[in-house]
Amino acid sequence: MTTPSSATAAATTSDTASEPSSAPAGALVTVERPEGWWRNAVVYQIYPRSFADSNGDGTGDIPGIIAHLDHLAELGVDVIWLSPVYTSPMDDNGYDIADYSDIDPLFGTLEDMDELLAQAHRRGIKILMDLVVNHTSDEHPWFVESRQPGSAKRDWYWWRPARDGHEPGTPGAEPTNWVSAFSGPAWHWDEEAGAYYLHLFTRKQPDLNWENPEVREAVYAMMRWWVARGVDGFRMDVINFISKPTELVDAPTQDGQPLGDGFEMVANGHRLQEFLAEMNVAVGLDEHHLLTVGEMPGSTVETARTLTDRANRGLNMVFTFEHVNLDRGPRGSKFSHVPLDLVALKRNLESWQLGLAEVGWNSLYWDNHDQPRAVSRFGDDSPEHRSASAKTLASVLHMHRGTPYVYQGEELGMTNTQFAGISDYRDVEALNYHADAVGRGADPEAVLAGLASHSRDNARTPMQWDDTHQAGFTEGIPWLSVNPNYVTVNARAEVADPGSVFHHTRKLIALRHELPVVAEGRFALLLGDDPQIWALTRTLEGRTLLLVANVSSQPATVPDGAVADVSTAQLLLATHGDRRGADLEPWESRIFLLG
Ligand code: NOJ
Repeated sequence: MTTPSSATAAATTSDTASEPSSAPAGALVTVERPEGWWRNAVVYQIYPRSFADSNGDGTGDIPGIIAHLDHLAELGVDVIWLSPVYTSPMDDNGYDIADYSDIDPLFGTLEDMDELLAQAHRRGIKILMDLVVNHTSDEHPWFVESRQPGSAKRDWYWWRPARDGHEPGTPGAEPTNWVSAFSGPAWHWDEEAGAYYLHLFTRKQPDLNWENPEVREAVYAMMRWWVARGVDGFRMDVINFISKPTELVDAPTQDGQPLGDGFEMVANGHRLQEFLAEMNVAVGLDEHHLLTVGEMPGSTVETARTLTDRANRGLNMVFTFEHVNLDRGPRGSKFSHVPLDLVALKRNLESWQLGLAEVGWNSLYWDNHDQPRAVSRFGDDSPEHRSASAKTLASVLHMHRGTPYVYQGEELGMTNTQFAGISDYRDVEALNYHADAVGRGADPEAVLAGLASHSRDNARTPMQWDDTHQAGFTEGIPWLSVNPNYVTVNARAEVADPGSVFHHTRKLIALRHELPVVAEGRFALLLGDDPQIWALTRTLEGRTLLLVANVSSQPATVPDGAVADVSTAQLLLATHGDRRGADLEPWESRIFLLG
């Protein structure tokens, strides 16, 4: 925790977070945040430990990010979403926070953070902090205090006795049968506290009790502290889990499984909207025109519409999981996947486009630090099709209505990696899943196959800057191995090649900035049931934009009369040159302006 000081317009003092003692550099270099600025913005996500290492310790850091800001400026993005850089024991790579008001030494210092804010703002780039307040680290002082019997903070977390008639700490004694996201029960018996505590994620991530108003005020104070420091918004981690039922009861179980899905029991709880509106007012989120995006597993178009309706003072947008769950088996078998049905994917995005057309706003993403690489999952990462499929996927995403998110390396067409065995993985989710599944008798090869396609470590391999030692990411030994394809897939090569994924993405971002129809146009899906072609129009004030894309590795033909005549249309961006006929090469896409 840093030193307290006097109040500013955006911040108040409290015992939990205090304002910067002098005006921090980030706040001094201000950026314009006009009302609704995020509607034509593009966000770039940085996963700091994998972005750029400045000191050779093998882990990315804030000075490394600063050194590469020009890459982002050239790409033209408006905002950086910074995955957590706060003080943390790193059980879940920083999503377990021990001090919200300081930077982990692995990533740098608070002064480095101020410098990042200032340097980004100088380039017109805003910064979103990752706000992880469904849970803290078990090393956070709040939790350390809370576990003391009789503590004034006892009620800040979810403490419960063992199930009636069970010996505490024995299997089945947990207060409910909920499974944690990272394998095993979602409750841990704490000897010192003499009670179980709830942790929907790892044991080192105890869930905060948002029913307690002191918890909420402590979170809001911390957020005001960051606003005063100069940040431009928040990406809110699993924010739709914060309102839990006060009566915690067992979840339904399936197929004789002992544990049930706790996520379903807590998602989109009855006070969620109230808490978000309270936060909005208490922090001044709308007042300061801050960007707010809520990560919401289990959210639907209806919940998103309510929460992003400006009248309700909730969030600007949410991250849905519906489209990234289409190729997954049911929960509990997360690493067993089913083939992706393109029609289902198109129809799903369409339902969000139409559902949020009049009220609310969409976020648009293919991947992030929790998902496989987009080109390997939705495209074709073979050498033959990698580049075209990465470009076409980008065209499809960016031509939807909403705020697009580019995950680091997506602009290079970075792919999933190949690990030889479980010892190559670093993610707690993958390691726990492997131990649990193999421990229960699953075939180790099958477990590894599931991890190969869907493990989060796929997205977390170091950023590929060039073809030198360790892809230019570090001079040391990287915390997670570099993808061997860095020799050909890297930023230096992409930036040098005018026909690359990088420049294609750059042009898409520029189109959004230049043409209001890209940001605001009314959406219509064409050829909705076509298993290869993704076609859509966007219309605004008499101007229509048309995207026609072959989302497959086979040639495709646009059926007669299915889309408008493009013979005189302006071709804005294409993957295969100025071709206007009905035949599409594998992964060919074209964007036209019709008039
Ligand atoms: C969602 C984050 O994106 C993920 O990386 C993390 O493990 C969980 N929430 C828990 O914070």
